[in-house]
Amino acid sequence: MNRNRNKKHTPVRMGSADPEVRTPSLGEPGALAERIDALGLADHVSELDEVGLTVVPQAKLGLPDGFFHSLRDKILEIAERRTGARLDLERGVVDAEFEDPTGAIGQFFVTHMIFEDPMFAEILVHPVKMALMEHMLGPHHRLSVSNAWIKWQTPATWDSPVTTAMHADQGQVPSPWNPAAPHVANMNWLLTDYTKEDGAFAYAPGSHLEARMPKGDEAVQRAVPVEAPAGSLVMFQGGVWHGAFRKETPSLRVSMHGLHCRSYYIPQQDFRGHVPNAIIEASGNPAYLRKLLREDDLWMDSTVNNRFKVPSLKGAVS
Ligand SMILES: [Fe+2]
Repeated sequence: MNRNRNKKHTPVRMGSADPEVRTPSLGEPGALAERIDALGLADHVSELDEVGLTVVPQAKLGLPDGFFHSLRDKILEIAERRTGARLDLERGVVDAEFEDPTGAIGQFFVTHMIFEDPMFAEILVHPVKMALMEHMLGPHHRLSVSNAWIKWQTPATWDSPVTTAMHADQGQVPSPWNPAAPHVANMNWLLTDYTKEDGAFAYAPGSHLEARMPKGDEAVQRAVPVEAPAGSLVMFQGGVWHGAFRKETPSLRVSMHGLHCRSYYIPQQDFRGHVPNAIIEASGNPAYLRKLLREDDLWMDSTVNNRFKVPSLKGAVS
């Protein structure tokens, strides 16, 4: 991975206490700092503060190759079922072309994956992802989208060095933003090798410190690729300018994404009340998953603490 080490960035410190009252504490053992220490994530936390993005290698995630292969194959299976296309890891889209705009850019989202298989819940509650997300968004954050991304060779007619245009994910919020307290943050699980030639994620290191959306082509000028093998986890905060380089090779790029947001921010996809309890309970951390899905929001529950019940008159017969 090219982290643009030549550029000096002023660090910011994220992860300050969040006095959110709408949702109960997880009550999990161990303060965040202790978990970061135990998981060996101190350098990744510094990198999130300094450059806004970090890549966690597979060895630190403790997941075998087979897990990533299964996730990748499940995504392709779902995408084929939904589109009718044949998707081949080496050859891309086989014997067919997609209509525009998908055909013109050579990529598409496969959305709402958490409803498809327990694996998509499992990656949401992974302790490394949980700790780094908590560092960026505080303890009370929500899942905004559960989307896979499939990309193939960028058509020659696509007239740009990037396919996904450079942007910051929290662009709906008026700037200036606080680099130490992003509104949203993202996880990208890489399921094929990322190189620039293979259409890697592009980002501008330290751009979260600008506290605004990019103007003109300044983000493209500063963009470097995230080059990392399949099995890596990319985490980045919502102020970072990012996009993706065009893909020059015929194979598929496959990844699993998950934008998260603070509890005051409206998630893009609606999960509350829709994810079967069996999927939640079968995950490695049901309490955290409930929180991600907004199942724990006290303001939406009329029975909790009598807080929002219609008050009773003394002596009234019910
Ligand atoms: Fe984005």
